[in-house]
Amino acid sequence: VRDALEERAQAILRTETIRAVQWREGQLLLLDQRRLHAVCEYLAYTDATEVAEAIRAMVVRGAPAIGVAAAYAVVLAAGQAHAFAGSAWQTAVQTDLVKLRQARPTAVNLHWAIDRMQARLASLDGSDPVPALLELAITIHEQDLHACRRMGQLGAELIGTDANVMTHCNAGALATGGYGTALGVIRAAHSAGKLREVFVDETRPWLQGARLTAWELLREGIPATLIADGAAAFRMQAGGITWVIVGADRIAANGDVANKIGTYGLALSARAHGVKVMVVAPVSTFDTSIESGLAIPIEQRDGAELTALAGQSVAVPGVKTWNPVFDVTPALLVDVIVTERGVIMAPDAEKVRAVLGSGPASSR
Ligand code: MRU
Repeated sequence: VRDALEERAQAILRTETIRAVQWREGQLLLLDQRRLHAVCEYLAYTDATEVAEAIRAMVVRGAPAIGVAAAYAVVLAAGQAHAFAGSAWQTAVQTDLVKLRQARPTAVNLHWAIDRMQARLASLDGSDPVPALLELAITIHEQDLHACRRMGQLGAELIGTDANVMTHCNAGALATGGYGTALGVIRAAHSAGKLREVFVDETRPWLQGARLTAWELLREGIPATLIADGAAAFRMQAGGITWVIVGADRIAANGDVANKIGTYGLALSARAHGVKVMVVAPVSTFDTSIESGLAIPIEQRDGAELTALAGQSVAVPGVKTWNPVFDVTPALLVDVIVTERGVIMAPDAEKVRAVLGSGPASSR
């Protein structure tokens, strides 16, 4: 059984050239996104606590990729708990699940994936839990990749020819099980010959745009121009941009979207300049237990991310900092949310319900 599962995990990877998360021979491999673009190095994990730390430290980042990594981490946790505690493994594994859940607060895919793994875990007996849990983790990985490809098609259909688009952060293969959400749409639009240029926000302070999105686009020969975050509104005013295309970390029941800090400002600029906003996110990114974006927990990170860049101080020592790493864009500023189940034009609570149904997130 394990050999067949290993083969299935390899099959996912064979279809992709950029693989942020890999399962190989009982180990979780994470492409260290802190070092890209300069260094392309995988770190190997056999311990769930270390994966929780890797998620917190952003070795792996992007909501869907965090969910996939956490699912594999639950396999590691259960294997270790079974080795130490035998038939009492279900109790022993709980501490690791809590650590994984606490790794990052905004990306709801993390909780969605752990909820699914936990439901499967609760249905198992005292024997080796690894095959059943690995099967589900691989399914979560496969489903995310398929969702991204479907969203790519659906989103690309909305884009006119010869399009100039703008994106923020990295919502690409690196941020997902593969292919990407926002970058999936951009990839599909490029393949369809519809794309002229992608304007890439550098995305301070972590530079996901400059380091990761630009890297993905250049590798595939997709025309890309890097801009400072502060240049986005001015570039829109100059004309010719038709869409802002971004991913999401959590979408509330009414369609409010939490995404990388700066997305809200982009959406405001877009509305002022007649540019449309497309949010691309799988159903695992929706949190229908939250009525509006006001209730979405926003991660605050260390001010050192603002005051230093690649280890070099770039701010006056001792200055106070405020570093929320996500913001919430009200649904009113979003023209369309693209999911693998279909597109939601001018999203509101009713339209979100119509596409998602009203079941609990874990059953999706
Ligand atoms: O802090 P990060 O890099 O994990 O933030 C990632 C984003 O904000 C992405 O836009 C979002 O997770 C969607 S990724 C498909």
